[in-house]
Amino acid sequence: MAGHTLGHENFKTVAILGAGLIGCSWAALFAASGRRVHLFDSHVDAGEKFTEFWKAVQPTLIKLGLEKAGDEPDWAAFNAAADAVREADFVQECIPERLDLKMALYAEIEPALRPGTIVGTSSSGLKLSDLQKGWKNPSSLIIAHPFNPPHIIPLVELYGNDATAVDAIQVSRRLYESCGKQTITLKREVMGHVANRLQAALWREAINLVAEDVVSVGDVDTAISAGPGMRWAVMGPHMLLNLGGGPGGIRAYCEQFRDSYHLWWDDLGQPKLTDETIGKLISGIAEESGHRGYGQLRDERDEKLVALISATRNVDAARAANDPS
Ligand SMILES: NC(=O)c1ccc[n+]([C@@H]2O[C@H](COP(=O)([O-])OP(=O)(O)OC[C@H]3O[C@@H](n4cnc5c(N)ncnc54)[C@H](O)[C@@H]3O)[C@@H](O)[C@H]2O)c1
Repeated sequence: MAGHTLGHENFKTVAILGAGLIGCSWAALFAASGRRVHLFDSHVDAGEKFTEFWKAVQPTLIKLGLEKAGDEPDWAAFNAAADAVREADFVQECIPERLDLKMALYAEIEPALRPGTIVGTSSSGLKLSDLQKGWKNPSSLIIAHPFNPPHIIPLVELYGNDATAVDAIQVSRRLYESCGKQTITLKREVMGHVANRLQAALWREAINLVAEDVVSVGDVDTAISAGPGMRWAVMGPHMLLNLGGGPGGIRAYCEQFRDSYHLWWDDLGQPKLTDETIGKLISGIAEESGHRGYGQLRDERDEKLVALISATRNVDAARAANDPS
C-alpha cells in the first residue's frame, strides 16, 4: 500500500458529490450523526433535494437512534465540486455509475483536497483499478459501497489496493461505524464487489423461475421474504447452513446435501433480460404491487427495515447482558 494518511479522524465535515438517491441518503445519515455536510450536484439543486429528503426521512433517522437526528441538519450547497471538498474531512462520491464521469470529477477535485482527506466512491461495481486512472495520485480513493438506502441498511463494502494510502480503509471504517454502519473489507478486486454479486446470483435464478413459468413474480418474492430472506436478515448463509447440519454443523450439512446441491447448481438457469422477460417482470410487479404506489412501497420497506434493525439490536443487547463470559 502507498503513502500514509492519518485522515481527519473527527470527520467534522463530509462532502457529498451527487445529490441523487444515494447521495441524499448518505448526506442524511452523516448529518444525523452530527457532521456538517457539503453538497454538490452538477444538474439539480442539491440543497433543495437534500432538504426535501431530510424532511421525509428524519423520523426514520430518529427511530434509528442517530445522535443528532432530532436537530436541524448542518449543511451547505456549492456550485463547484472543488469548493464542496476544499474544507471536507471526508468525501463520499455518489455520481452516476459511469467511469468517464467519475474520472472527470476526480481530476476536478484532486487539487482541492486537503492532505489526508479520503474519497469513498459509492460505485456499485466499477473496479478501483479503473477508477484510480482518474487520479494523479490515487492514494486517497477507496471503494465504499453502500446498499440502498444507505441511511438505513448497515452494510458498507470497503476496498483499497496497493496504491491506496496505508490506513485509509481503517480510518474510513471508523467513520462508517460511528454512524452505525457494519463494514466488510474485500481482500482483492472483483467486479460488482461482494453483496451485488450475491444479489446477482440470486436474482438470476429468480428471473429464470419467472421466465420458465415455474412461479409468478409475487411467489418468487414471497419465497424469499417469507423464507430464507427472514433468516438472512439475522445470520448469513454459511452460518445458517451450519445450523442446518444440526450438531454436526457445516460438515454434516455438506455430507448430507452435497449431491443435491451439485444437481441443483447444474440445473440453474442462465436467463438474459430480453424484452419478453422484462415484460413478464413488469406485469408481475404490477400484480404484486396492487394499489400500492412507489412511495407507499418505499415507506413499507423502510418501516419494516427499521423495526427489524431495532428488534435485532434489542436481542443482541439482551443476549450480551446475559452472557456470563
Ligand atoms: N441506486 C442504488 O441502488 C445504488 C446502491 C448503491 C450504490 N449506488 C451507486 O451510487 C452512485 C449514485 O447512484 P444513484 O442511484 O444515487 O444515482 P442518481 O442518478 O440517483 O444520482 C446521481 C446524481 O449525480 C448527479 N450528477 C451527475 N453527474 C454529476 C457530476 N459530474 N458531478 C456531480 N453530480 C453529478 C445527478 O444530477 C444526480 O443527482 C452510483 O455509482 C451507483 O452505482 C447506487
